[in-house]
Amino acid sequence: MRKRLVAGNWKMHGGIEQNRDLLSKIVAGTMEIDKATCAVCVPYPYLSQVHSFLKDTHISWGAQNISQYDKGAYTGEVSAMMLNDFSCRYVIVGHSERRTLYGEDNCTVARKFKAALDAGLVPILCVGETLDQREAGLMEQVVSEQLDAVIELVGVEVLADSVLAYEPIWAIGTGKTATPQQAQDAHIFIRKRIASQNPTIAAELQILYGGSVKANNAVELFAMSDIDGGLIGGAALLADDFVSICMAANN
Ligand code: 13P
Repeated sequence: MRKRLVAGNWKMHGGIEQNRDLLSKIVAGTMEIDKATCAVCVPYPYLSQVHSFLKDTHISWGAQNISQYDKGAYTGEVSAMMLNDFSCRYVIVGHSERRTLYGEDNCTVARKFKAALDAGLVPILCVGETLDQREAGLMEQVVSEQLDAVIELVGVEVLADSVLAYEPIWAIGTGKTATPQQAQDAHIFIRKRIASQNPTIAAELQILYGGSVKANNAVELFAMSDIDGGLIGGAALLADDFVSICMAANN
């Protein structure tokens, strides 16, 4: 059976003081959780803080992006190996904000995915379509192209060491959520596409839903059989809400 994962994507939010408060409430509030994994993906400057704060707790941590390169003259970039110095478990790759605001194409995302795996990190690969694409009936095509770019570079087998996140762009930060059935349908599509190449890996792969997951909709989203948890934006910054979402994943 697939274990659920709830990962907070803090995006460009945080501060030393407020992180301390948020993290201590998350740790305290999720003490009883034993059937789901909880994680926070924080901005780079706070990796040292989360490393020391969370290292003896049940909460995992990671970053939100990495370079596709190992090292070199890439001003402003951070390599996957550097994240190992902070014992990160996860790194988000291909988030829609990286794709749309920073021009990351499928090929770049695939190389980042590979860099994460090579460094022993668990990449959380984000896929998802815009509203225009959905309305034009292109969801399956867009998501397939995003997935295929990664599979062509690294092979389907290594998906066993990764996590996928279906994040419809029209539901991110908008308060609009895909209905549980819309999300489930997309997750089934993704799982079937991978199953066509390797049914065992498809059956074991964690596929998270992301896009306005809140404390008041997490239970119904996680009730869907192919939704294995969530990648949480805004609600991950509110301790009580994030804890409620983690609890929903534990039930
Ligand atoms: P929101 O939960 O704020 O919609 O953000 C979702 C997201 O982008 C998670 O990566």
